[in-house]
Amino acid sequence: MSFPPGFLWGAATAGHQVEGDNRNSDWWAWEQRSGTPVAEPSGAACEHFTRYPQDVALLADAGLNTYRYSIEWSRVEPAEGAFDAGALQHYRQMTQTVVDAGVIPMVSLNHFTVPQWFAARGGWTADDAADVFGRYCEQVVRAIGDLVPWWCTLNEPGNVAVGGYLGALGWPPGTRSYSDWKRATRGMTEGHRRALAVVKSLHPSAQVGATHGMIEWLPSTAARPAVAQVRRMFEDAFLDVCGDDDYIGVQTYTRLPVPLPLALAPAVYAAMAVPAVRDQLLPTLIRRATAGFGDHGPEASDGVRRTDMGYEFWPEAIAATLRRAASLFPGKDLVVTEHGIATRDDPERVEFITRGLTAVRQVMDDGLPVRGYIHWSLLDNFEWTLGFRPTFGLIGVDRTTQERAPRPSLRFLGDVARTGRLPA
Ligand code: BGC
Repeated sequence: MSFPPGFLWGAATAGHQVEGDNRNSDWWAWEQRSGTPVAEPSGAACEHFTRYPQDVALLADAGLNTYRYSIEWSRVEPAEGAFDAGALQHYRQMTQTVVDAGVIPMVSLNHFTVPQWFAARGGWTADDAADVFGRYCEQVVRAIGDLVPWWCTLNEPGNVAVGGYLGALGWPPGTRSYSDWKRATRGMTEGHRRALAVVKSLHPSAQVGATHGMIEWLPSTAARPAVAQVRRMFEDAFLDVCGDDDYIGVQTYTRLPVPLPLALAPAVYAAMAVPAVRDQLLPTLIRRATAGFGDHGPEASDGVRRTDMGYEFWPEAIAATLRRAASLFPGKDLVVTEHGIATRDDPERVEFITRGLTAVRQVMDDGLPVRGYIHWSLLDNFEWTLGFRPTFGLIGVDRTTQERAPRPSLRFLGDVARTGRLPA
């Protein structure tokens, strides 16, 4: 099974999850605060802020040609309007290191975290949130734009809006308000547009898109209207504003059956037709449905094979979400910007990659313009509220010594990248 020349083969990380010591970010504060559902603080994380040369070399030596990483806004702008030249210089040096290694940089301008001062003025709900984000984006693009052919504006904004502002995932700012969710969604859709405009005005040939957390939803007939609305909140609200993007970043980890009995269909359809009921009911339902999300889950007691995240092991879900993105934007480039598994069993990761890539190849055979596959993640890292327990890395990281241990899955994906062939 082969892939075309020029295909992007990569691995991803995000600043706060790997750099360490991101003291000015909202997540850092959230991790220190009592009463939040964070298992452990990010602390030194993977010390990627200083160890990135080694990590980039491991990625390049394995044969991967793309590194997706994020700029930490709270380092670049630690106080409102005050930009840190040293931090910008750091990201320039890092990006130069990536380029010098023969690797294509794909840079995310925002991967969940925001500076504490931005959170304090309302975060994404503030009227001028997009302006403020745009100003930061401009500084970054001016500093490193000449080196960066691929940009991601916002990473999985649906998870931030629903997970943080509606309170579904226990993320900061930890509000539980439908109107905050709505305002944050507007702030981020505007923020995406602003970032796109900034990059395009300075570097018209750069490829710019957002990255979307998408699930293969499998609702029963009765569940369909409720799932459609939930999907709208997590996914469509943001996909809707991506018509001008150069590509759609698709990130998929699992599929989710929602088996509501048929007898409930009339009640669900009726409830969803009344906005006031729908707006109150949905946030409550999402919070309840995701309450155990991220736990180990009912260990296969129901016969379902699960990852260490508690959700179903189903690498082929990526085909369903790529098809959905393509149906919304026919002909637009698609990039798998994340796909990965938390497991202690590296052969299982190789299986996940193999089955995922087989599914990607199938959708390409059907004519979908998929331009790349970026695996999550390069390193075992800080998995948000779950701390360091789930291990997603192609490279293991010793929590005491910070020693890197490249896994066979890194060699496997690197060989696929180098040869353009997936072994049968
Ligand atoms: C996020 C990553 C996260 C990964 C695994 C994605 O939703 O972009 O930050 O670590 O999933 O859960």
